[in-house]
Amino acid sequence: MNVADVPVIDIAGLAGFDAMVKNAIAAQIDSACRGAGFFYAANHGLDLKALQGMTMDWHHAMSVEEKKELAIHAYNQASPRHRSGYYMAIEGRKANESFCYLNPAFSTEHPAIVDALPAHEVNVWPDPHRHPGMREFYEAYYRDVSGVAALILRGFAIALGREERFFEPHFSSEDTLSAVSLIRYPYLEDYPPVKVAPDGTRLSFESHQDVSLITVLYQTAVPNLQVKTAEGFLDIPVADEHLLINCGTYMAYITYGYYPAPEHRVKFINAERLSIPFFVNLSHSSAIVPFDVAADGPAEVSAAVPYGHYLKHGLAHLIRSNGQT
Ligand SMILES: [Fe+2]
Repeated sequence: MNVADVPVIDIAGLAGFDAMVKNAIAAQIDSACRGAGFFYAANHGLDLKALQGMTMDWHHAMSVEEKKELAIHAYNQASPRHRSGYYMAIEGRKANESFCYLNPAFSTEHPAIVDALPAHEVNVWPDPHRHPGMREFYEAYYRDVSGVAALILRGFAIALGREERFFEPHFSSEDTLSAVSLIRYPYLEDYPPVKVAPDGTRLSFESHQDVSLITVLYQTAVPNLQVKTAEGFLDIPVADEHLLINCGTYMAYITYGYYPAPEHRVKFINAERLSIPFFVNLSHSSAIVPFDVAADGPAEVSAAVPYGHYLKHGLAHLIRSNGQT
C-alpha cells in the first residue's frame, strides 16, 4: 500500500557474454523504466559500507572554516566554482549540506579546462593532512561507480534496441561531465522550517526530475524518497546494499519519453543520513539524435541537443524552480 514497485535487478550478467542473460536483464530494466521509473541494481560490486563510513566520518570532521574555503560561488562570492565544492548548511534556514566533485580527469591541463568550457571545473579537496586518503578514496569511487553506470547503460542500450555499446562513445572517462554529490541530512534538535507539498507532506526537496542521462544513487536505509505515479506519490522502499537507478530528462529526450524521467521528491525526516547520487552525464559535445523506440528506427528530428548545452540549462532551471541545494 502506497509503496512503488521498485524491482531489484541483478546487473552482473551485463558484464558477461551470454546474450540471453543480457536480454533478460534489459527486459527487466525496460519494464521498470516503463513502470514506476526506479529500480535497484544488485550485485554491482561496490563497497557501499566503506562509502557510507568514509562519508559520514568526513562530514563530521570538517570545520566550518574548511567548508567555507571549499564552498561554491553561491556560498562564497570569492569562489569561481559553481559545481564542484562545498554546498553549505545555513543555521536556522537550510539543514542539509553537501560536497560535489566532478571528473578527476579534469586537471588544469585538460583541454576543456584550458578552453574554459562551461560545467567543467578542476575539483577542490580538503587539506590532505587533515583528511588523509579522502581524495584517493573518492576518485576511486568515481571510477568504480562509472564502471557500474557503463554496465547499466549497456542494459539500457539493449532495452532500447540499440547496439550494446551505444552509449560508450558518449560516456568517456576522459570527458564525462558526471558528478558525485556527498549529501548529508543531519539530525537536529531544532530543525529549520521545512517545505510543505500541496498534499501536506513535509519535504526536504520538492518534486523534480533529474538533470542527467541516468542517476545512480546510494542512500542510508532511511525511507525518504517518493515517486509520482498515476496513483499519486508512492514511497520508494529502501535497500542500502543496492544502488537505486532512475532516468533523467536527457534519457526522456532521446527516447521521446519512452523512458520518462520520473518525478520524485524527498520527504522530510529528522534523521542523520546520507544520500550520494552519481549523476551520469555525457561529454560536453555529445549529442544523441533522439530515436523512436517503438518504430524501431531513427525518427524525423531536428538537430540533437548537445549534452553540455542541456546540462547548463537543466541545472540552472532546477536551481530556479527548487532552490539552491
Ligand atoms: Fe533527484
